[in-house]
Amino acid sequence: MLPKIETERLILRLIEDKDIHDFYEFARLPNIGPLAGWKPHVNEKETKIMIKMFRDKIRFGQLGVFAIVLKETNKMIGTIELHSYTKDHKAELGFCLNPEYWNQGYATEAAKTIIVWGFDVLNLKRIEAYTYLENEASQKVLEKANLIFEGIKRKGYLAYDGGIHDVKVYSITNEDFYNLVRKNGIK
Ligand SMILES: CC(C)(COP(=O)(O)OP(=O)(O)OC[C@H]1O[C@@H](n2cnc3c(N)ncnc32)[C@H](O)[C@@H]1OP(=O)(O)O)[C@@H](O)C(=O)NCCC(=O)NCCS
Repeated sequence: MLPKIETERLILRLIEDKDIHDFYEFARLPNIGPLAGWKPHVNEKETKIMIKMFRDKIRFGQLGVFAIVLKETNKMIGTIELHSYTKDHKAELGFCLNPEYWNQGYATEAAKTIIVWGFDVLNLKRIEAYTYLENEASQKVLEKANLIFEGIKRKGYLAYDGGIHDVKVYSITNEDFYNLVRKNGIK
């Protein structure tokens, strides 16, 4: 079961059916799903199915998906998850946010928190992330969350629409985290 985690401005908790309206608000947009790996939703029914799928991941040995909720208003403004999880080894970080809330540091705040959870609680050795070459906002979030650029995985990603893309690979290991981030107090 995913924990409920509080940060300065956010609550991270398992996505729920009640998030459907807030989630659809950005799940329908063309600049969200395709960058995060899924087709924009055409109605709330598709959002409902995705919420169920996100929650069902837990039944298949995965961790599930966190809703990113603004403390101040209790509005669900994004999702973040560690997917492609292998116990005691690694997972892939993925996130997306309602554009109304971009560029206020929310994704970075959530990502840093999930990384602490991944190493301290899940005992991961590596957290990785993939982004399209042109997705500079995502790359910026990963760098601010102390992931290191490893290189380009050529034709490394098969998108939902059949497109094949080069992707940038980022990672942070448990050694990076404990030696550099924790020991040197890097934020
Ligand atoms: C990626 C995403 C989650 C970032 O969310 P966010 O809350 O705006 O992120 P933050 O505010 O923490 O950081 C964004 C950083 O990117 C920078 N940025 C934003 N757009 C940019 C652009 N086009 N080019 C370069 N930098 C950009 C911002 O200035 C900020 O950096 P700064 O703090 O140094 O100023 C959001 O853009 C999103 O949902 N995108 C669509 C889905 C997606 O791409 N998911 C990731 C898939 S790998």
